[in-house]
Amino acid sequence: MLHGATLAPFALSAAPALSTAPSLSSPMVQAAKPGFTPAALRAQLLLAPDIRYFNAANIGPSFRKVADVQARGNAAFQDNPSREFRERYPLIADRLRARLAARIGARAEEIALVRNASEANSVAVLGLDLKRGDRVVLTAHNHQSTLDTWRLRARREGLELVVLPVPVEATSPQQIVDAFAAAITPGTRAVFLSHITNVTGLAYPIADIAALARKAGAWLHVDGAQTFGWLRLDMTALGVDSYSASTHKWLLGPLEGGVLYVKRDRQAELNPLMLSHGYWLTDPKNLETAQKYEILGQRDDPKLEAIETALDMMDGIGETMIEGGVRHVARTMRTALSRVPGARIVGAAHPDLSGPVITVAFPGKDVTAMRARLWSSAKIATAQNEADGQPLIRFSPHLYNSEDEIALVADLLTRG
Ligand SMILES: Cc1ncc(COP(=O)(O)O)c(C=O)c1O
Repeated sequence: MLHGATLAPFALSAAPALSTAPSLSSPMVQAAKPGFTPAALRAQLLLAPDIRYFNAANIGPSFRKVADVQARGNAAFQDNPSREFRERYPLIADRLRARLAARIGARAEEIALVRNASEANSVAVLGLDLKRGDRVVLTAHNHQSTLDTWRLRARREGLELVVLPVPVEATSPQQIVDAFAAAITPGTRAVFLSHITNVTGLAYPIADIAALARKAGAWLHVDGAQTFGWLRLDMTALGVDSYSASTHKWLLGPLEGGVLYVKRDRQAELNPLMLSHGYWLTDPKNLETAQKYEILGQRDDPKLEAIETALDMMDGIGETMIEGGVRHVARTMRTALSRVPGARIVGAAHPDLSGPVITVAFPGKDVTAMRARLWSSAKIATAQNEADGQPLIRFSPHLYNSEDEIALVADLLTRG
């Protein structure tokens, strides 16, 4: 059963003023990381110099050092694939889980190393024990890996899916919380949403929604594909039961790396999707931890060190600097785009409801052609989405984007 799948009317408003955003060279940002510039970060990436890259929400360009570590690791593995050589990998996996846990305010036994956010989401969708008629609350802008997988499950098992419409122009966090409060009934078994959506970039007030889910005894899963890597995260403060991420987006890490957090005292309620040989298990007792979600057979061992290298590189910048810098770049971009004649930025009504996934409509214009021109004239890489029937250009700037690049985007869009 599907309810409420229509979206609220499309209405957009102006972005905040540029003058409120600190510059990347401001004393505040420099104090966090002296000498940091977008160009210095950019020089550490493999990204071709002529590409202006505004698509971290899809794929984050990786560090040269990450690729080097992975290539060296692959060569060493293939040079000596003996069990004796590979004994190192379960130990590295243990180290990586502990490091990821510390980064997101969790415990090592709450972390599973999976292959991407889609897989992490699928474990959460498919692993819960539910019965016919059980109610699950979603949003219309969940990623396919939670929306379509739930639809598949609901069709096969007769579940009740409540798909909340997404206010394309939400005016306050309370408006969002109220919609969840109305939908999460005492019988609701699960609530699944994205922390920041990949469709319009709306940022959800997770802690408030978690309180509602907790009160109803429902499982809360949050998809963190658009937050992990740039936003400082604390699972306890967020109050989620499970959380997913990929390493190949905002963390600028290797492809096909995924993280699934599952709260320790709820792990008994979430089954693994598959069980193969416990390749990274250092102790069979770990099958009683989140490691049960990563028993996927032979794994890509050299990737473990590539993920560690991405963490090293990002920690070299510092989490505070990354979050502050990404917020600054996003504000700068919103402001520049808001000055383009005819541009309407989605989600500008309340600063707490937006992040670095920025979507813009150009009512009455051929958005597909505009986006294609950005690429053909200046290799500006973006994505295209749609909300409420309106085509949107999606920009997801990261720390490596300079103010000159942003100005160029605005200039080209102004010209049409
Ligand atoms: C919100 C969200 N969830 C999940 C995913 C899936 O990520 P992956 O393809 O790395 O599994 C994406 C991809 O863009 C996303 O934006």
